[in-house]
Amino acid sequence: MGLETMERTVYLNGKFLPESQANISIFDRGFLFADAVYEVTSVLQSKLIDNLGHFHRLERSCRELNLTLPLSYQELTDIQHTLIEKNQLHEGGIYLQLTRGDEGDRDFTYHDGVPPTIVLFTQERNLVNSPKAKKGIKVISYADMRWRRRDIKTTNLLPACMAKHAAHAAGADDVWLIENGYVTEGGSNNAYIVTQDDKIVTRPLSNDILHGITRASLMKLAQEFDIEIEERHFTIDEAYAAKEAFISSATTFVWPVVAIDDKPIGDGQPGLIALKLREIYINAALAAAE
Ligand code: PDD
Repeated sequence: MGLETMERTVYLNGKFLPESQANISIFDRGFLFADAVYEVTSVLQSKLIDNLGHFHRLERSCRELNLTLPLSYQELTDIQHTLIEKNQLHEGGIYLQLTRGDEGDRDFTYHDGVPPTIVLFTQERNLVNSPKAKKGIKVISYADMRWRRRDIKTTNLLPACMAKHAAHAAGADDVWLIENGYVTEGGSNNAYIVTQDDKIVTRPLSNDILHGITRASLMKLAQEFDIEIEERHFTIDEAYAAKEAFISSATTFVWPVVAIDDKPIGDGQPGLIALKLREIYINAALAAAE
């Protein structure tokens, strides 16, 4: 296959273009200031998973930062379906990024009326049969160095990049971030433990964590299936002693965590509740996919 045929078709400001021709100004505020928000929607069987939830969170991120969202839900899904079709995407995700646009110079102060930059592209990924879903992942604890509005999904991701790099250097797959002795969330996912009496524990929603769309779906499903969830803070020591641990996100759904800081969780194998929730989530997500 030649390079040309391997190029993805991407979306940039109203146009579908080969990726090599989708160019953005050096003055774009997304590039200069990480003045941008993003979303990742997973794709299964060429359909969008939990997409309306991602759109609602995008609307909220834009509102909180005084950014203009130039697309309706219908316009967005039309673009996403076109990208799925043009790139023959069966399984993976669609990344969306919206920035405050290009003001032609570098100036901290932004001005109203500048058209936003909007980019979408597809990524192929093995989601359902991911080896990490079956084997589980290892995480290390790591200081949460992020800003105070983690509920807004901005592209200000350097702390996550540094943390994940440290995890990989330590032979682990990801981090669990710690603040004031408590776990906030994973490097790019929400964090959960299961107590010895089979209750799922996860941190309550606040500005300290991203309000995961997968998390919201899992909470609903757990209720339907009579699995108890307690929203409260938990320490890393409580996590070491948990029966199970797991993470959730659009790019993982549910992945068991089998070790934290090299200490095996439970018997060191993927937990039964995590695997059950994963199965329930995938079935429900597929049934509601758009
Ligand atoms: N990350 N917490 C953080 C810090 C995240 O970055 C993410 C998502 C989540 C889970 O949210 P959701 O269930 O809506 O995907 C929690 C995406 C996948 C990413 O950055 O690639």
